[in-house]
Amino acid sequence: MHTPSASCLKVMNDTLIGVDNNGIITAILEPGTDDYTACLQQAEHSKRLTRMTATQFMLPGLVDLHIHAPQWPQLGKALHLPLQDWLMNCTFPLEARYSDPEFAGAVYRSLVSTLLANGTTSAVYFATIHQQATQILADICVEKGQRAWVGRVAMDDPTQCPDYYRDTDTRSGLQQTEQLINSIRAIPGNHRERVQPIITPRFIPACTNEMLEGLGKLASQYNCPIQTHCSESDWEHQYVIDRLGKTDTEALHDFGLLTRKTVLAHSNLLTDSDMDTIGKHQSGIAHCPLSNSYFAGCVFPLRTALSKGLHIGLGTDISGGPSASMFDSCKHVISASRMLESGTDPEQAAEQRGVSDSRSNFIEAFYLATAGGGQVLDQRIGKFEPGYHFDAMLIDTSAKDSNLTVFPALDSDEDVFQKTIYGANRSNIRGVWVDGAQV
Ligand code: GUN
Ligand code: FE
Repeated sequence: MHTPSASCLKVMNDTLIGVDNNGIITAILEPGTDDYTACLQQAEHSKRLTRMTATQFMLPGLVDLHIHAPQWPQLGKALHLPLQDWLMNCTFPLEARYSDPEFAGAVYRSLVSTLLANGTTSAVYFATIHQQATQILADICVEKGQRAWVGRVAMDDPTQCPDYYRDTDTRSGLQQTEQLINSIRAIPGNHRERVQPIITPRFIPACTNEMLEGLGKLASQYNCPIQTHCSESDWEHQYVIDRLGKTDTEALHDFGLLTRKTVLAHSNLLTDSDMDTIGKHQSGIAHCPLSNSYFAGCVFPLRTALSKGLHIGLGTDISGGPSASMFDSCKHVISASRMLESGTDPEQAAEQRGVSDSRSNFIEAFYLATAGGGQVLDQRIGKFEPGYHFDAMLIDTSAKDSNLTVFPALDSDEDVFQKTIYGANRSNIRGVWVDGAQV
């Protein structure tokens, strides 16, 4: 099953998916055709056939567009604080510890393994300011076979970042970023750059104008992807307007940081004109609904952004979002959209409470978690179609220790798909593949 568009669930029963030695899908063959029989026999004969049982099916691998790798030990902690206090009192002290490469290696191994076990075949990571620890994260992704984008965090503004966790100066921050672009691209075994560097200004408040300009130049010089936080919360959004006299989106554009390869996390408080600018540059948005309910103070206007044709995928925002599972992100896309639509304050009359036509659904949410993320990253991932990478997971609805219960007499294929999004956990994910290789 897969969602080739935001409004389409495609169920392909008893279908053969042909994958070449590079992990690219070569054919999707439905039963009853001559090719199907020949291909089935050939695959069986050459012992290259993987068969599914009656309770199993394949889904495309999940694409998590926004993860703070160093915050993994903090998952499920400190969520009672507002964003600024959470950063200053908990997150920056934790991230500062990644000056220790041994600590970094242990945490990053645990994180990458856990995400793969949850079906996250593509991951876009913020690391820390530390060059060595960032390199270690990229090395681990290559070793474990995850498709990944790994960014060294730039944060050099002494008025906003603590002394113990800040780039020593703008120049060295830019130099380390440039060195990592080269060293990550050159990791032995990094086939066809499955693991890529990504330029990562933390957010405008943490960076000087000089840093942001320098990073924009590096992005263009190296044709390198970019990620940052954009208009996440009222505090952050207003801070940028006060400092620069413009919105995050306008400022990022002026610094050369709004490109086809930009991933903007959150983007909750975009103006109409910001959305048009993002659309014009074909930049992408990482919608992080779970984290937004803790730190943003509002719900991302998903329906408006989709209706403008923007490229949108999902992020867990570990550890601002307290779950490693992109299935949880899907669920929260739906519940956040329903709350936006119906409104939240029972004191208000029903017709004044919400924003009409805001709701999302399970098919759209899964599309965003797979093919939508692929569109943001400009990669052929997230669908089962010829020419796409075979990044996939095998779901078993009959797995032990699972809350997923299928009643064949009552549940259609679409029901099984919806139940999987709401009820599947790690034990239902029996296998995960990236580029055709089991990881
Ligand atoms: N803004 C700047 N840094 C962060 C971070 O680590 N998490 C979130 N959610 N927002 C941020
Ligand atoms: Fe974040």
